[in-house]
Amino acid sequence: MANQLLSGKKGIIFGALDERSIAWKVALRAVEEGAEIVLSNAPVALRMGTIKELAAQCNNAPVIGADATSIPDLENLFNQATEHFGGKIDFVLHSIGMSPNVRKGFAYDGTNYDNFLKTLDISALSFHKVMQTAKKLDALNEWASVLALSYIAAQRTFPGYNDMGDAKALLESIARSFGYSYGFAKKVRVNTISQSPVPTTAGSGVAGFDGFYGYAEKMSPLGNASAADCANYCITLFSDLTRMVTMQNLFHDGGFSFTGVSEGVVERFNQ
Ligand code: NAI
Repeated sequence: MANQLLSGKKGIIFGALDERSIAWKVALRAVEEGAEIVLSNAPVALRMGTIKELAAQCNNAPVIGADATSIPDLENLFNQATEHFGGKIDFVLHSIGMSPNVRKGFAYDGTNYDNFLKTLDISALSFHKVMQTAKKLDALNEWASVLALSYIAAQRTFPGYNDMGDAKALLESIARSFGYSYGFAKKVRVNTISQSPVPTTAGSGVAGFDGFYGYAEKMSPLGNASAADCANYCITLFSDLTRMVTMQNLFHDGGFSFTGVSEGVVERFNQ
């Protein structure tokens, strides 16, 4: 259902790899709500993924490659996007995460530190780089909304989530710190959404994903929030209806984060 909540707004959406990606659903919903968008992903992902199909469904949105850890790539992206829009940008979605330690099977207490630094750079520092570049180029309108996607492993330990837990803690901290300075400087707001598990490429790469997906489903009073639900929440945060919300980590998880234990989970231990 479209309400034109983003009518006239222009945004950059990072991280749509395939149709399971959370960013994929956000892109479609943003366009449905009247936004014009530019899609971006790492050059290697553009070669492997199906982002062109998404672009076609988004009124032929331009696809501009950028490794989100590279400042020159990000400068090029923001310059090209503002040129394409003929003006500044109103929203940005950072939907980027990758851990080489998870991918290559290094345990948390047997980590490879080069991999660890890459995890932090790709999954957290890139958020800082996106905002620092946007601010330096003065590419965002006042009251623009910048969002990144996080996970509750920032607050609590989830075995298998590995160094991504540390990356998410840093990501949420960057949202607070940059939200402070960008708010005072330009009235730009910065938040993270802490989302339920979703079976995407990044999600299902985590060891034991199916188990904790099922566990979260049983623990959450509303069940797991899907990628489509997450897209709806992102739209509200890009819209003017939430213009005074900034520096927050917002749980979007069907109540999981505030549930100690559920009867469904307890029952399993009474058997
Ligand atoms: P996904 O695998 O579809 O998306 C991850 C994206 O990051 C991909 O498009 C990938 O190409 C991009 N990426 C990786 N390295 C990059 C780089 N150097 N520069 C630019 N882009 C790069 O998976 P998903 O689940 O849609 O992930 C999106 C975000 O949501 C991530 O931050 C993830 O941690 C977060 N999230 C995912 C959850 C899940 O269970 N799937 C739960 C909570 C948060």
